[in-house]
Amino acid sequence: MTSICVAPGKVNLSLRILGLRPDGYHDISTVFHAVSLTDEVRVTRGGPGAGRVVTTMGERVESVPSGDANIAARAALALARVAGMDDPDVTIDIIKAIPVAAGMAGGSADAAATLVALRALWGLATTDDELTGIAASLGSDVPFSLLGGTAKGTGRGEILTPVLTAATLHWVVALSEGELSTPEVYAAWDRLAESGHVVASSADVDGPLLAALRHGDPREIARHLVNDLEPAALSLRPSLRGVLDMGLELGALAGMVSGSGPTCVFLAESRDAAINLAAELAGAGVARGVRHAVGPAPGARLVLSR
Ligand code: C5P
Repeated sequence: MTSICVAPGKVNLSLRILGLRPDGYHDISTVFHAVSLTDEVRVTRGGPGAGRVVTTMGERVESVPSGDANIAARAALALARVAGMDDPDVTIDIIKAIPVAAGMAGGSADAAATLVALRALWGLATTDDELTGIAASLGSDVPFSLLGGTAKGTGRGEILTPVLTAATLHWVVALSEGELSTPEVYAAWDRLAESGHVVASSADVDGPLLAALRHGDPREIARHLVNDLEPAALSLRPSLRGVLDMGLELGALAGMVSGSGPTCVFLAESRDAAINLAAELAGAGVARGVRHAVGPAPGARLVLSR
């Protein structure tokens, strides 16, 4: 028996840091936006490894942990525990298209897809709300990977409110060499804040972005994109500045580091503009790879269960 689920990567249209919390996380106010770069997760009862085996296929997957260190395996264990099962006797295979450790919530997508796939495989009556609770225990972005679309996130990003958007947005995604660790980028933000180079944002300042999303005009949306983690990512990886400058020079409406980076994303005016920009950016040689992605994309969804 096998179930297959796909889940999207994300960009943060707005990511504002409100401050460091006593538990080490940061309170944030963010607008998540799921895009059409998706990972596929296949779960099979028993299977070759008969255990919480994780096999990952795709580009640059060498650094994705296997076995129980993988967030997909942790998702399987968490759901099994809630369902009162001793051992999740499954093999988990992941086919990755979302860049790894790149600021696009690839691991969160894999965890969300695993939860949805296993609920189907095991025929569980777990509700969407219960699944979201398990998702939040696995990581701050996992509830959004379940939900998809465009949504405001508060708390550490796990408290979600869907956002109405009339826009179909065309993105050019510039993949970078290497990875950035999310905790390290948040720690860099703490250092910049201590030295007065950045200041915490205030909550509820995303009104103009939300209005622009309702109107659906990419030019207006471009003016309101913001990522408070960008200076922190740039402090760790100054070369990303050149990637951002190149995208803007080539006609992007806006460019920013995606989440904690190092992926850079550019908003284009239309599908044609995005395809041209992607080709020119690839030709400029500033990125290790370039992708075209469209948002909003749906959250984790089952594509096969038999
Ligand atoms: O929740 P998740 O496991 O994805 O977070 C990874 C790390 O990113 C956390 O351990 C923390 O260091 C940092 N983080 C944070 N504030 C958030 C989300 C993540 O400091 N809102």
